[in-house]
Amino acid sequence: MKKQPSAIHAAITGVHGYVPDYILSNDNLATMVATNDEWITTRTGIKTRHILQAPDKGTSDLAIPAVLGLLEKTKTDAKEIDLIICATITPDMPTPAAANLIAHGVGAINAFSYDLQAACSGFLYALVTAAQFIESGNYNKVIVVGADKMSSIVDYEDRATCILFGDGAGAVLLEPSKDSAIGIRSSILRGDGLGAQHLHIKAGGSRKPASATTLSTKEHYIYQEGNIVYKYAVEKMSEVVLELMQQSDLQPKDIKFLVPHQANKRILESVAQRTGFSEAQVMLTIQEFGNTTDATIPLCLWRYEPQLQKGDKIIITTFGGGFTWGATYLTWAYGA
Ligand code: COA
Repeated sequence: MKKQPSAIHAAITGVHGYVPDYILSNDNLATMVATNDEWITTRTGIKTRHILQAPDKGTSDLAIPAVLGLLEKTKTDAKEIDLIICATITPDMPTPAAANLIAHGVGAINAFSYDLQAACSGFLYALVTAAQFIESGNYNKVIVVGADKMSSIVDYEDRATCILFGDGAGAVLLEPSKDSAIGIRSSILRGDGLGAQHLHIKAGGSRKPASATTLSTKEHYIYQEGNIVYKYAVEKMSEVVLELMQQSDLQPKDIKFLVPHQANKRILESVAQRTGFSEAQVMLTIQEFGNTTDATIPLCLWRYEPQLQKGDKIIITTFGGGFTWGATYLTWAYGA
């Protein structure tokens, strides 16, 4: 999508994250499935992931503290929020949307709210969607929160998937900026439903509702063909980052940070190598959080916020189930 010139630009004016206290280490996993720290570290770069252990809590319980922290940090009254978009693949329940529960939980009584589902690209899709509301001139404060309780859809007897995922949430506030050099500058979003065969959850949707059979065959858990997903992730994220840089007349040296979806450290290294970014330019949190699906990008921005300054150029890129992928170029709006 080539961005049309607009007098109003959508800028990220705050970011906050939340991960639950319980830490699941590689050594813990080695007591649950046939794996070990060395295999997980060398194949994925992951050392720990945070897990929401409370069985009666859902994704909104991760998102609410992230949003409350964001409101406090940015000195924003919840009543001023116009819209909350929650990117998630693990809403608390099929209906209502997790975003409705989050808006209620944080006291955003004047906001409308909805969920957006685009697997690991959900946060980026939601960010670009939210930017359109700001650029329309009709909305002033929009929150995008990416949150997933991945532990609710992971089979902890499947060593190929249970090592990858963690729970967490991250939220950003978007506000209008009249400075055309600040905020979201351009984006490319893509998708191809042919990828569904390689990464999906077989049961629990309308095609195959949950039943005693689907439970016993474990079809309510993530099914993934890891090495196929791996190859597409490297190829598509690299392709879209190169296209975006060309479209925006950018070189890697112009960019402070590349912010890739945290799927596997080796995927990130390959994307950086193919697109010409140095290791130091790549935001990396996977060692600590694992793949938190919709939360990886805002958790990266949250962790690296102290290193970001007003005017820094960054490129976000994601790849996920669908397949879905994309990239956004933006200029950071605040900081020393
Ligand atoms: N511990 C030890 N061995 C494991 C293991 C584990 N946790 N998981 C898989 N293995 C084994 C496999 O059984 C296989 O054994 P075999 O050769 O005897 O059959 C061997 O390791 C190699 O498996 P393979 O799947 O080829 O490994 P890989 O290097 O591709 O790594 C993933 C597997 C899942 C880590 C990797 O494919 C990946 O990260 N894919 C992308 C996943 C992703 O990003 N998904 C989210 C989409 S955004």
